[in-house]
Amino acid sequence: MCGIIGCVGRGKDTLGTLVHGLEKLEYRGYDSAGVALGGAELSVCRSSGKIGAFKKVLTERDIAGPLGIGHTRWSTHGPPTDENAHPHLDCAGEVAVVHNGIIENYRSLRDELVAAGHTFTSDTDTEVIPHLIEDERDSATDPETAFRSAIERIEGSYAIVAVFAGTELLLGARNDSPLVIGLDEEAIFLASDVPAFRDFTDRVIYLEDGEIARVDGGLEVTTGDGTRVEKTVSRVEWDPEETGKSGYDHFMLKEIHEQPRALRQCLSGRVDELGGTVDLGDIGELRPSAVQFVACGTSYHAAYYAALLFESAGIPAQAYLASEYATAVPPIGEALVVGITQSGETADTLSALREADRRGARTLAVTNTVGSTADRETDHTMYIRSGPEIGVAATKTFAGQLVAVNLLSLATGEGETRRREIVPALRDLPGDVQSVLDDSTAEEIAATYHDAGAYFFIGRGIQYPVALEGALKLKEISYKHAEGFAAGELKHGPLALVQEDTPVFALVTGDDEAAKKTVGNVKEVEARNAPVVAVTDKKSDVAMYADHVLEIPDTHPRSGAVLANVQLQLVAYHIANRLDRSIDKPRNLAKSVTVE
Ligand code: M6R
Repeated sequence: MCGIIGCVGRGKDTLGTLVHGLEKLEYRGYDSAGVALGGAELSVCRSSGKIGAFKKVLTERDIAGPLGIGHTRWSTHGPPTDENAHPHLDCAGEVAVVHNGIIENYRSLRDELVAAGHTFTSDTDTEVIPHLIEDERDSATDPETAFRSAIERIEGSYAIVAVFAGTELLLGARNDSPLVIGLDEEAIFLASDVPAFRDFTDRVIYLEDGEIARVDGGLEVTTGDGTRVEKTVSRVEWDPEETGKSGYDHFMLKEIHEQPRALRQCLSGRVDELGGTVDLGDIGELRPSAVQFVACGTSYHAAYYAALLFESAGIPAQAYLASEYATAVPPIGEALVVGITQSGETADTLSALREADRRGARTLAVTNTVGSTADRETDHTMYIRSGPEIGVAATKTFAGQLVAVNLLSLATGEGETRRREIVPALRDLPGDVQSVLDDSTAEEIAATYHDAGAYFFIGRGIQYPVALEGALKLKEISYKHAEGFAAGELKHGPLALVQEDTPVFALVTGDDEAAKKTVGNVKEVEARNAPVVAVTDKKSDVAMYADHVLEIPDTHPRSGAVLANVQLQLVAYHIANRLDRSIDKPRNLAKSVTVE
């Protein structure tokens, strides 16, 4: 997803600071990059492709300036070409703009501006913004007035930063797309997210929807009508080192290995191991009569898992793909709508949470991102405390979400007997994850099966969302066809695809009726001569019917799901690594998906 960086006050280091910021934003996923430097005249350089290519283009240009803006673009309107890369300019070249989000009324605005004599040079929705500002400058006394009037004409989601020729002024505005301000002794930064400037400062201000930031010698934040807003300066706790790879080949592998620590952080101060109690503060006071979970992608798999926990406690619960939530039966009574989102900025999830709010439900965000839109807009927030996740593939945040929803269900719905049973398993979970990481033979499985054409994942009950997640992780980073199924569904259609060269990963924990039935489904696979990889605690006899076993420690099935998932993360990683894929930034995907 697009990334923004702007800075004033870095003097001769302005260009370097912008490029550094763009590199830090690469994890969001992008297909082109560009910068505009301010001064008497604006200097713009942009190109399609990755930052490496952009830096080469920059070496052929001699541009400098005391302030500037930069952008990584993830295409929505128009292909990833040099012309469509941001920043975009007005006709006179006096204002340059970078933008994240979507301008919904750009068609009509563009027609209007073209009729008024403006010439467009790109396919983007963004380009209407500098032309609108130019249009407003005819009647406005100064750039800020023109900027404000232009913003009023825009409908849609945006984080916008503009720089004006002949000034030392940056203006920023946001609606439904994040924009944060970083403050250090000499410089002020405007960015789509903190990593862009975290190497320079840990002091941050989060801009709210409808606010406008004016950055020149100082900073002023105002509302749309010009009322000054006193903003709180927060400190970002994580260290820049945490966003490095620390010796791992990929962020994904590093983040997989960070899971024991991430889970300890999630549990810290929230569980009393001796008393078997869970303390979530105010959230623990909630007594929902029903729960609706809304989420996307990996977070949806956590939502599905979460709904199973609440259902097992006798509380009606349902997981919805956030983009489909509009069709859900409206929540009634003391229903709680929970948005699970690591970034807290996923447009589909935010939209579902807003819909729930309109329908009168209480809302709760389960997120990794303090200060994110989901955090700020919901009635309650539970942080998963996983630390920054840079790889596009969600790994440690998924594990954090699974643990967080366990705590949520234990604190708000499940009784003491359940807590006494689950809390010890959760307490042991970080150590159990470490043993899986230490002993996993996933790399050997990857070596054996990395060239298969398709992969299936099956699981039942609590293991079903893990099967879905195993398949998503593999397809996302290896570009291989992979599908997850409820184990019992295989024989209702997908079995037709199972052949000798289709590895089937079967998730089997415990030895109850559900496990026995899944073992039966494994036998159906074995009978078709397909290779079976059992991910199991070895309590059942599934190993007898499997070609390979990825073992997990014997624990409660709810923790077993987290452990089985770690094995599948490693399988996906090693297959993708053997295929030399772009693991941390898979093609076509973005870390933070801020469009619907
Ligand atoms: O930030 P979110 O948790 O809301 O993101 C939702 C999905 O876009 C995300 O989980 C996506 O599926 C992952 N990149 C998959 O690894």
